[in-house]
Amino acid sequence: MEKTFYVTTPIYYVNDIPHLGHAYATLVADTLARYHRLAGWNTYFLTGTDEHGEKIWKTVQQLGRTPKEYVDEIAESGFKALWQRWGLSNNDFIRTTEPRHIQYVQKILQRLYDSGDIYFAEYEGLYSIGSERYVTEKELVEGADGIKRLPGDRDPPELRREANYFFKLEKYRPWLIEYLNEHPNLIEPVNYRNEVLEMLREPIGDLSISRPVARLPWGIPIPWDEGDVTYVWFDALLNYVSALGGEGAEKFNTYWHKTWHLVGKDILKTHSVFWLPMLKAAGLPLYEKLVVHAHILGFDGRKMGKSLGNAVDPIEMESRYGIDALRYALLRETTFQADSAFGEAILVNRLNSDLANDLGNLLSRVMSMLEKFTNSKIPVCNTLEAREESIKAAALKLPETILDEIRGLRFHVAIEKIMEFVRDLNRYVAESKPWDLAKLEDKTKLHTVLYTLVEGIRVASVLLEPVIPNKAKEIRAQLGIEGDFVLEPAWGLTKSGSQVAPSTVLFPKVDIATLETKKESVVTEVVSPVVEAPVQAFIGIEDFAKVQLKVAEVLSCERVPKADKLLNLTVAIGDEKRTILSGIAEYYTAEEMVGKRVVVVYNLAPRKMRGIESQGMILAATDENGKVVIVSPERLIPSGVEVR
Ligand code: MSP
Repeated sequence: MEKTFYVTTPIYYVNDIPHLGHAYATLVADTLARYHRLAGWNTYFLTGTDEHGEKIWKTVQQLGRTPKEYVDEIAESGFKALWQRWGLSNNDFIRTTEPRHIQYVQKILQRLYDSGDIYFAEYEGLYSIGSERYVTEKELVEGADGIKRLPGDRDPPELRREANYFFKLEKYRPWLIEYLNEHPNLIEPVNYRNEVLEMLREPIGDLSISRPVARLPWGIPIPWDEGDVTYVWFDALLNYVSALGGEGAEKFNTYWHKTWHLVGKDILKTHSVFWLPMLKAAGLPLYEKLVVHAHILGFDGRKMGKSLGNAVDPIEMESRYGIDALRYALLRETTFQADSAFGEAILVNRLNSDLANDLGNLLSRVMSMLEKFTNSKIPVCNTLEAREESIKAAALKLPETILDEIRGLRFHVAIEKIMEFVRDLNRYVAESKPWDLAKLEDKTKLHTVLYTLVEGIRVASVLLEPVIPNKAKEIRAQLGIEGDFVLEPAWGLTKSGSQVAPSTVLFPKVDIATLETKKESVVTEVVSPVVEAPVQAFIGIEDFAKVQLKVAEVLSCERVPKADKLLNLTVAIGDEKRTILSGIAEYYTAEEMVGKRVVVVYNLAPRKMRGIESQGMILAATDENGKVVIVSPERLIPSGVEVR
């Protein structure tokens, strides 16, 4: 397989400073890029800013600023500076106001005009400034105020009648359907591909790609008509190619055919229905994959918004807990298919349980044992017995597994698999009792155990490096392990005899009770996310596909103190362990739940009840007497299997 990888983020509008959504998408792309680089792929990572269009023009007007001065400030001191401060690994940062981009957009416009794919006509339609595109009646949803808007937009669309240049989009619809059918993995996860196919079932019309200068002077001039500027999406989408220098450039030749665009589900249509025909019409090869991610919701499961008081400021989170903890929590808590809740308490819980407890404690225990038992030197490794062999075997298998999970867009599963390895090392400490081995005359076994632990931690640090790049290096620095490592099966790379550094706490534990955002810890009841889609009698298969149901096995169960209805269940879902709270205590005792196989909603946003985070929901029915009955598979099947 050719190991080349080009990943892009959406280029962000500069009408606002970076928020958690921007941070999330950029961190996901950064992590994808880092895993590929670590695995030896020739990788290029692009991000940037989208600086033209009505939205920006309106903002500038309201602020009474000149556009150039305003966009420079947000792009440079807002976005670019933040990514630099966080040490992100982007190879380039493109701004759509740069000459290299403007020239390329004009070249493509001219090409499409010359080939007859662009024409001039009068048009009347509904325009959304928020999403910068014409919308159809069908796409609008009635809000609580009775006004119809595009989901996610603040303002309703405006009726417009204007003479514009048009791109012959509709002409490409049959080709696009066929192309999507021939390339089932082009858009992932699959629920988004299905959404696009759904959009293409009816005519999509042609795409208006210009605005009169008289109304909107802030855009790229149409090369053959100085009275018009380009439509902002036509301009923006081309950044992915202009940043590589366009056709024929070395970077374009190297990377373009291996492109993965990462975008939020809000801009799925523009990156599929608009962008693919644009590429085809321009005679450019198509991208390899469109990776679509869901949205982050507030800790209460509602869409994040300043007015709801559930918005999380990424800069504040980073300054309180560090960039590595923010990265870890975001990537561990979210899935690409379905929206995920996020908030300070969620971050702190992950920080405490996974990073401070599982990973941090393992390191500090091993460091203090080295100090006590080997004079802070890495010991030699003697004969491996079955237990050490099993740790080694897991370590050798993980690099490939993790890259597969990451390329399969299951970041949370990848991280969980690494943490399971870390937890196994903790179990190994407890089982092998090095403090007892240290009392023996013969230190052979003690040394083997300590070496296995250090080498295990080294492997974990390499596997986790794309997620927590700074702390991964710090772990190895503490253990006195020098050099860079790659994501490849390897065991025994730690050098015996080297000196470890003085131990410091990797991730200080945070007292959850001291959180400033008190609101989060008092949410006890389930709040349904804001419903954005119109209510329908039937749902399509693509809607059902959004709900992931899995078989789980109840490992242990206890009553939640001072809650009459709640049971606290620890369940195994394949390799993963989760805590689930369920309101079934009146119908089932804790003892009788243990060992049961149940069906859980696997991708439900976690929710806090009584100070405990519930990570899913157990399916149950209510019988004719109002008694709750758990749904179980009809015969014994392994936990973790999908229910469809
Ligand atoms: N400028 C266009 C993109 C042009 S790409 C050729 C744009 N910009 S944006 O500033 O609105 O950024 C949208 C992207 O930010 C989303 O697609 C998503 O990646 C990210 N997010 C914004 N809000 C988000 C959440 N609440 N949750 C997760 N990410 C979301 O659209």
